[in-house]
Amino acid sequence: VRKVVFITGSSKGLGFEIALEFSKIGYCVVLNGRDEAVLKQKLTLLDDNGHFVFKQDFLLEDAIENTEKFFDKIGLAPDIIVHSLGGKLDGDFHPIKPQTLHATMRLNLESAIGINNIFIPHMSQNKGGYIAHIGSLAGINANASPCYAISKAALHAYIKNSARYYAKQGIAIFGVVPGILGHTGSDWDRKKELEPQKYTNRLSQTLSGSFINPNEIAKYIVSLSVVPSKIISGSILEFLNE
Ligand SMILES: NC(=O)c1ccc[n+]([C@@H]2O[C@H](COP(=O)([O-])OP(=O)(O)OC[C@H]3O[C@@H](n4cnc5c(N)ncnc54)[C@H](OP(=O)(O)O)[C@@H]3O)[C@@H](O)[C@H]2O)c1
Repeated sequence: VRKVVFITGSSKGLGFEIALEFSKIGYCVVLNGRDEAVLKQKLTLLDDNGHFVFKQDFLLEDAIENTEKFFDKIGLAPDIIVHSLGGKLDGDFHPIKPQTLHATMRLNLESAIGINNIFIPHMSQNKGGYIAHIGSLAGINANASPCYAISKAALHAYIKNSARYYAKQGIAIFGVVPGILGHTGSDWDRKKELEPQKYTNRLSQTLSGSFINPNEIAKYIVSLSVVPSKIISGSILEFLNE
């Protein structure tokens, strides 16, 4: 039976690179983003056929309910979930506004928890599964916009806490923490034009002399999610590069 991987925030950036890598090894991929046309176009770039698109804005109230309905409709449940969805919202600066914090927590943490709560029982019945979360160095060093940093720190705590709880059910929950990603359209790629001095300074601090190509991270995530051993569970893997 073909294995299924659900990747949130996968119409572009790291999420799409992860989708590409899973399609190359024969997985059925469920792509997610907010724009159906973009998703359908991206679907054509995956290896092979038989993949799905799930258009859903995870900031919306009914997102989790819709996720459950969508998978019921296609008659599948994911064997692997990769939460690549995440980011910084407008207005994320001090003094912190409660509504910005709430929305950021929903985007970067609560959507992932809601999705996991739907599928963990299925995974558990199927003798296990893998759940990868994309964290951030901002969640460790807090050197970023406040709500973003707070939400990623909370995500890291959720990863370790839930990994402990679900390990006995064969669910491996882990985090992958990339340094700055340099793909076209990424936050830092946009700074090249908008804040060139800040961009050059930050680039000069990288260990490799460049920001990370998301395809490199994608390959690690795929390899960690397909090995039979689940000792990765509870780990937060930092790709430092700074
Ligand atoms: N970029 C970095 O330097 C960096 C560094 C460390 C960690 N990270 C983390 O790595 C992950 C991926 O980052 P990235 O730079 O690859 O992101 P990206 O290029 O900005 O892509 C974001 C993805 O999420 C989707 N998306 C955004 N808001 C959404 C919403 N409300 N509901 C559903 N989908 C939504 C976007 O699709 P549409 O726009 O089509 O809806 C897109 O597919 C994030 O968790 C981020 O926090 C990034």
